[in-house]
Amino acid sequence: MTKMIKIFDTTLRDGEQSPGCSMNLKEKIEMAKQLERMKVDIIEAGFAISSPGDFMSVKTIAETLKDCTVASLARTAEKDIDRAWEALSNAVSPKIHTFIATSPIHMEYKLMMTPDEVYERSVAMVKYAKKYCSDIEWSAEDATRSDPVFLARIIEGVIKAGATTINLPDTVGYTTPDEYYDFLMKVQELAPSMSNITLSSHCHNDLGLAVANSLAAVKAGATQIECTVNGIGERAGNAAMEEFVMALHTRKDILKAETRIVTTEIARSSNLLSRITGVKVQPNKAIVGENAFAHEAGIHQHGVLQNKETYEIMKPESVGLSQNNLVLGKHSGKHAFRDKVKQLGYDLSEDDVDRMFAKFKELADKKKQVYDRDIEALIAKDSVQVPKTYSLQNFVINSGNTITSTAVIRMLHDGKPIEKVSRGEGPINASFKAIEKIVGTPLKLEDYQLQSVTEGNDALGDALVKISDPEGNLYAGRGLSTDVIEASIHAYINAVNKMIYEKTLKPNGVNKETDKEISN
Ligand code: KIV
Ligand code: ZN
Repeated sequence: MTKMIKIFDTTLRDGEQSPGCSMNLKEKIEMAKQLERMKVDIIEAGFAISSPGDFMSVKTIAETLKDCTVASLARTAEKDIDRAWEALSNAVSPKIHTFIATSPIHMEYKLMMTPDEVYERSVAMVKYAKKYCSDIEWSAEDATRSDPVFLARIIEGVIKAGATTINLPDTVGYTTPDEYYDFLMKVQELAPSMSNITLSSHCHNDLGLAVANSLAAVKAGATQIECTVNGIGERAGNAAMEEFVMALHTRKDILKAETRIVTTEIARSSNLLSRITGVKVQPNKAIVGENAFAHEAGIHQHGVLQNKETYEIMKPESVGLSQNNLVLGKHSGKHAFRDKVKQLGYDLSEDDVDRMFAKFKELADKKKQVYDRDIEALIAKDSVQVPKTYSLQNFVINSGNTITSTAVIRMLHDGKPIEKVSRGEGPINASFKAIEKIVGTPLKLEDYQLQSVTEGNDALGDALVKISDPEGNLYAGRGLSTDVIEASIHAYINAVNKMIYEKTLKPNGVNKETDKEISN
């Protein structure tokens, strides 16, 4: 019989806490909605007590999503559990996820607690959390380096106290599939009450084994897998959701398990996350890498032309990779545009369709052929807008290989024009320096990338700019244009607007600038 495996997505918690992957409130909400669309069972929306921003994102996501469970992480401490519940109380299906380390090294050096104290604390805090919420997950941090006999004792205690899910993570990515399987079987044998609750697995990828270990956990009886989109997470990351899901999907014959995930939403989820964080996946990444379905070698191409199954074990369409279809031209009407957007799987309001149609028309004027991917890029960018404190009015660049580049940038700041001139090493550098002068804050360029959305001389350029402020906070901005200098300028301004948006968030996460025009 095929087992149903619950997907517990921790992109917004374990994933978001990894370097370069931080997201603002709007971006987290957009990502959470996409995860819901993909039919993830549980979304861990954050660690409510860790910061006002995390609290606000757990609360807003809990109040927004209707079709999946929303969890918050909490240490085994009353104040953590109180804060988690404060954020989750309006969720349709809330879950408190409380954790404590159980390995000798963590208990001695990090917690400075004895095993008995860890036992008492766990049981007491699960009982405490149970007063608020029926769905309680207890995690044994560094479980795979813990003593199975001690774990079994504590697990029996927390199940009696009301835990409904027991998670046994490979926190440091140390175990191997066979070892993890044996470990999980042993703990279940020693803790018979586990047969009445959900066994969960949470694997890190330090040895590149996170997905293989998660599959071993399924074999050992786990019915919940914790993972992240694109495998982002602490250090080498967590188990990649798309890899785990497609492994079950493709090898149901031997793995005898499946998930509820709408696999055709996988590519869009991966792209949205990369677009938001500015962290691209490597080209040869399984399932979502640019080359995952590309066949370069002549002998492979020949085989695939004769019969796709010679080298293709999954269909690109099954993960939502669209063909690079020609869509609409500059004479296309709103009706055709609305139909296309719907066909691409977006459920936009009439206002959103109007705004996107205007952007599409602007693009169609500059570009002969507009493809599905162009439209997807426009929509993805639009979905995570922040208030447009600064906007570009116009720019003039003077550049060449025998002169120093000069940029004149004119921007609107809350509707008032400001113009600055700057020289620099090339047109992009000169433009960025002029914007920095207008903003009046020293900003450091941390990353700059440029790629085209589709092929062709008139392709839409997609620029990514990462800047840091004097406190070292990082902000990623995106810009789209058929002119790569304009795309780069838009990306820099977008990063500046995100910085201002985050700085104007009140501690409770409400933005003071509510009346401001929303744009990119
Ligand atoms: O890796 C880990 O052990 C964790 C726990 C908090 C579940 O992220
Ligand atoms: Zn983790």
